[in-house]
Amino acid sequence: MTEDRRSAENLLTFIDASPTPWHVAASAVRRLEEAGFESLDEREPWRLLPGHGYYVVRGGSSIVAFRVGTGTLSETGFRVIGAHTDSPGLRLKPQPAAAKGRWLTLGAEVYGGPILATFADRDLTLAGRLALREGDGRVTTRLYWHEAPLLRIPNLAIHMNRTVNDDGLKLDPYAEMPALFELIHDELGPAEQFRRWLAESAGVAPEAILSFELGLCDTQPGVVYGPRGEFLANGQLDNLTSCHAALEALDRADGAEATAVCALFDHEEVGSESYAGAGGTLLADVLARIGESRGGGREAAHQALASSWLVSADTAHAHQPNFPAYYDDDNTVQVNGGPVIKINAKQRYATDALGEAYFRALCAEAGVPVQAYVHRANLPCGSTIGPISASRLGVRTIDIGLPIWAMHSVRESGGAYDQDYLIRALRAFLLAAADG
Ligand code: CO
Repeated sequence: MTEDRRSAENLLTFIDASPTPWHVAASAVRRLEEAGFESLDEREPWRLLPGHGYYVVRGGSSIVAFRVGTGTLSETGFRVIGAHTDSPGLRLKPQPAAAKGRWLTLGAEVYGGPILATFADRDLTLAGRLALREGDGRVTTRLYWHEAPLLRIPNLAIHMNRTVNDDGLKLDPYAEMPALFELIHDELGPAEQFRRWLAESAGVAPEAILSFELGLCDTQPGVVYGPRGEFLANGQLDNLTSCHAALEALDRADGAEATAVCALFDHEEVGSESYAGAGGTLLADVLARIGESRGGGREAAHQALASSWLVSADTAHAHQPNFPAYYDDDNTVQVNGGPVIKINAKQRYATDALGEAYFRALCAEAGVPVQAYVHRANLPCGSTIGPISASRLGVRTIDIGLPIWAMHSVRESGGAYDQDYLIRALRAFLLAAADG
């Protein structure tokens, strides 16, 4: 197996430029435009040409990119890679500013299932998007990102919390996690003080900001580390490893016979049921419109879906040897051991025996190591967009992903060689010939 760290470094750059799902979509658009993909508008008619690449963004934070295959769609079907753009964290409340003693604090809601304690003592900032009233009266949205450290949730000193190492660090997100922003400095009141700061920071008039979606994001860049530089750490590895690999694979799968699709969805961490989420109509709509533009009617569309495969790419739990009681002894997966096929008898993961065999063959063909994971039988298992997409679309689905440590920490970690393995496996998937 060849070991290549360049993909890991590219991944870290991609993550560092993409602090929120809206920025992930924007990074994906940049990447796709550079590769010659054309933007599509859902409100316009689509005219698609074989061999050409296109993308469509819904809700600002979900994106479907595809390259129309050179083969007959009803025979080749689609090769779809699904992943998610969002990560668990903290999102500012509509009215976040409060006075606590002499401090202006910013309160947040919890988005998904973050390890809350990992947000304490980090160099946090704000990023997301603003909805603005423009000079001509139109409402627009604009990305926002204050790149320098801005906020902090300081821990209580151990002198006031003597049992923290016995009981664990427990933080109440409502009462104990509002971030310290600055001292209250005048008679404006906290809401106005913050609103004016945000407007100035965004370069707009305070009254132009109608609403916002802003996350409390970490500012520490990603790193490659370890005695031989064989590991990496960053925020949002779940699931930007998969988004990045999907886009790379799509770019490198030029000339594929089957229509290659990357569907990167927001809202996976909160259940996927939204206008732009995997539980919505986005992917089904795009596949139907590709089918319509390629001709052949309903019958051809059914044949195409029945010939298709979907790889749901999301992270897996790498073995952490200090916690043996939480892993299935005989089914652990290791960082730098390559993509993981995720299996669950209750269909929390969509892989079946045929899908596992198919993905193993693709990895062998790509010269990539592959592993299989099952969650310890006495612990509840998480899920992915795999089962949701499989049931919505009626397409054969395989759940896979890279092994990482500390899933849903603000700082996750994994193997520096795995990103290259994943890209190569996904490229082999997109280029695979039609099969039975
Ligand atoms: Co995930």
